[in-house]
Amino acid sequence: MGNNWLLSRRRIFKLGLGALTGIGAVVAAKNIYWSQQIQALDNPNRTFIASGKVSLKERAAAKGLIYGTAVRYPDLSLDVKLAASVALECGMLVPEWELKWFAGKQPLRPSPDSFDFQMGDWMVNYAKTHDLLFRGHTLVWHESLPPWFRNTVNRQNAREFLAQHIKTVMQHYAGKIHSWDVVNEAINLGDNRSDGLRTTPWLKLLGTDYIDLAFRLAAESDPQTLLVYNDFGLDYDTPQDEAKRIAVLKLLEKLKSKGTPIHALGIQAHLLPGKNKFNQEKLRRFLRDVASLGLKIMITEMDVADKDLPVDIKIRDRIIAGVYEDYLSAALDEKAVIAVITWGLSDRNSWLSEFQPRDDHAPVRPLPLDAQMQRKLVWNAIARAFDHAPKR
Ligand code: XIL
Repeated sequence: MGNNWLLSRRRIFKLGLGALTGIGAVVAAKNIYWSQQIQALDNPNRTFIASGKVSLKERAAAKGLIYGTAVRYPDLSLDVKLAASVALECGMLVPEWELKWFAGKQPLRPSPDSFDFQMGDWMVNYAKTHDLLFRGHTLVWHESLPPWFRNTVNRQNAREFLAQHIKTVMQHYAGKIHSWDVVNEAINLGDNRSDGLRTTPWLKLLGTDYIDLAFRLAAESDPQTLLVYNDFGLDYDTPQDEAKRIAVLKLLEKLKSKGTPIHALGIQAHLLPGKNKFNQEKLRRFLRDVASLGLKIMITEMDVADKDLPVDIKIRDRIIAGVYEDYLSAALDEKAVIAVITWGLSDRNSWLSEFQPRDDHAPVRPLPLDAQMQRKLVWNAIARAFDHAPKR
C-alpha cells in the first residue's frame, strides 16, 4: 500500500481524535455548567425554621386548607409507623393504585363485566375510621387500563363501558368522596393536535367530547363530590410548560363554556429541580387565570425529584425544601387553592424510587418524612408555607 494511503489513514485518525477531543470538551463544559446551575439552587442561609411541632394537617386546617397524601394499600395496611404518621400529619388520603382501572395486586376491574371493590373499600373505610377526607383517583386515564381493554372496548361499546365504570364506581362510594379526578392527563402537546389533546384510547374511541361526557356522567353519579380535571407539567418557566398551561386553560374555558360540570383543576406538581427554571409570577398568573373561570384548584400529587441533585443529603434536602417552599408560597397566595396533596408522605414509599431513581442509586428523598418517618426540611418547608398562607 502507498504512502498516500498511510497518510490519509493517519489524517483520518487525527481528525477523528480531534473531533472526539472536541466533543469531550463540550460535554465536560456542559457538565460543569449544570453542576454550577444546581449548586446555585442551594442556599446555605435558608434554615426553614418552622414554629413548634403542630402537624401539617392542623397548620393547613388553620388556614382553611387541606393537607393529604397518596398511599398504597400494601404500605398503609402493613406499615404501622407509616399509618401512625398518616394519622398525625394528614387530613386527606388518595389511593395511589386502588381506584384506578387496573393497578396493584387486586385491581378494581379484573374483567370486562366485574368490579372488585375490596381494596377501595378498605381504603375508604380506613379514611372514615381515622376521620380523614378521601379523594378518588382516577376514573378516565390512558394509563393503568386493564389487559382486556384493548381487545374488548371498541367504538360501538366504549360509551357504555365509560358510563358503566363511572356510574358503578362513583355510586358505590357516593357521599364518601371529597373530590374525584374524573379525567387525568388529557393534554399532551407532543401528540401535535391543534386542540392539544392526548390521543388516548378514549379520544380514539369516543372523540373529543369524551371529556365533557365523563364529567356529565360523574355529576349524575355523585352530586356531592368535587369533579376535577387533573394534569402535570404546568409548573415551570419553560416553553413546554407554558404551552401546556395555555392548552389546559383553553380546555377548561371550552368545558366551562359548554356548561360541563367541572369544579376544579388538579395540578399534579411533580417537580424536577435542576434544568427547569421556576418563576413564581408565571405560576401565580396561571392560577389566577384558572380561578377566574370559577374553578377551585388542588395541588394533587406534589413531590420533588432529587435525581439531578448532589448526593450530599444536607445540600439535597435544603434544595428540595426550597423548591417546596418557593412553589407553595406562590400557589397558596391564590385562595382558590384548597388542598395540597403530596404523592406519598415518606421517602420509604415514593414512586420516584422506580420512576426517577438517582444514577448513583442513592435512596431518593422527595417527601416530607424520611424513610424512618422523621420530619425533614421538606416538612418544615410545607409547614412554613401553610403558616404564611392567607386564610381561606
Ligand atoms: C403512579 C404510581 O405512583 C405508580 O406506583 C404507578 O406505577 C404509576 O402511576 N400521575 C398520576 C398518578 O396521575 O396516577 C401516577 O401514579 C403518577 C403520575
